[in-house]
Amino acid sequence: AGSAVGLGNIWRFPTEAGNNGGGAFLLVYILCVVLMGVPLMVAEFAVGRHSRANTGSAFRILSKRRSWGLLGKMEVLAAFLILAYYSVVAGWTLYYAFQSLLNRFNVMARQGDSSVFADNFNSFVSDPWLPLLCLAAFLFATHFVVVRGVKSGIERSSKILMPFLFLLMVVLVVCALTTPGAAKGLEFFFTPDFSKIDSGVVMSAMAQAFYSLSLGMGCMCTYASYFKRDANITKTAFTVGLMDMSVAVMAGIVIFPAVFSVPGLEPDAGPSLVFIALPNVFQMAMGGIPAMAYVCSLAFYVLLVVATLTSTISLHEVVTAYLSETRNMPRRRAAWYVTGGSLVLGIFCSLSLGVLSGMTVAGMTIFDLFDYVTAKIMLLAAGFLTSVFVGWVLKPHALANELTNWGTLKLRCFSVLVFMLRYVVPLIIAGVFLDGLGLLNIL
Ligand code: PFF
Repeated sequence: AGSAVGLGNIWRFPTEAGNNGGGAFLLVYILCVVLMGVPLMVAEFAVGRHSRANTGSAFRILSKRRSWGLLGKMEVLAAFLILAYYSVVAGWTLYYAFQSLLNRFNVMARQGDSSVFADNFNSFVSDPWLPLLCLAAFLFATHFVVVRGVKSGIERSSKILMPFLFLLMVVLVVCALTTPGAAKGLEFFFTPDFSKIDSGVVMSAMAQAFYSLSLGMGCMCTYASYFKRDANITKTAFTVGLMDMSVAVMAGIVIFPAVFSVPGLEPDAGPSLVFIALPNVFQMAMGGIPAMAYVCSLAFYVLLVVATLTSTISLHEVVTAYLSETRNMPRRRAAWYVTGGSLVLGIFCSLSLGVLSGMTVAGMTIFDLFDYVTAKIMLLAAGFLTSVFVGWVLKPHALANELTNWGTLKLRCFSVLVFMLRYVVPLIIAGVFLDGLGLLNIL
């Protein structure tokens, strides 16, 4: 859950929902989590625990074929590329936590013009130095945890802090419902307009489901290789899926009322959406009691930093475990390669929102390109291949052995899971791809 709950829920989910029609996206997203995400998570857990190896080696060990090893390597590459641009946004959360600490949002709110929040964000991301400093700070914090093996510390503290984030989201939901744009925001988020559902929306919702559940980048597989034998992987997959989805839905309930309350802000504003809308929520709902607005805003950004850190740690761990186990490298050196490499790529991603904004590939900035290639191509391809691998290549008894502690439900659930992995997941992904390319005409 630490890996799954992060910026994907609070930043990327509202951004994608806003770009893809709100309610229509939400509906497809929930279906994708239940029908594809949870079975795939069980599949990744099974591969990780059965092979007891990092993702880069796990598929090859279980199939004894070199070609399946390529799937693991693609997942490691996806984790590395995601870490690079995810850390850029992680740096933004750090900056916003500092701004909250210095009570900057309250000062901005007192100026009485909501466009200051947009100006604040835009001038920050286009600054050539500050975002880079925040990016580096976040990456080094992640590096420190991965190298020092203080995972038990972060695990313990996130077990305490994550429920607080959850509680604070509930408070925020209540706050958001008191904003002037609440009715419009909820209508946008909860009323599905079926005419908007096309292959692009389904592809985005599917990618978001995988991204948010940390699937298709070896993360759940790597973590499962450290699981105890008696850990119940099915129950874990359901719990993580439910928690992750609830945080995302709450983020939507908070963001869209805020978006419709801020003049000039549109739901399809892109990556800036959350960072402009959120500081407004605290000030609008609790502006009358500045101390409350201060405490809530600071608590929220600090908890967001922690949630983000538990996600960057898991991304870093995938690549570090792969390098140190397959290249026979000490963990410390492997971690330096990962941190250094993602810092270099992250710098380009960050600058592409400012001084390098003119540099585009297929109409996308470097930042958007990283997001598109990883989430919409690599993760979906990995999801397709993982379901084929576990459904068709892995021996059924190997999968059955991993699904422990089910009691009498075991047999029935096992056949449903195998059916989903053999047919439902790969056929839906392939169908959406072909439809998107214009080769099928379903949606
Ligand atoms: N699932 C994380 C989030 O929603 O923020 C992002 C993430 C973490 C993706 C770890 C992939 C991963 F391996």
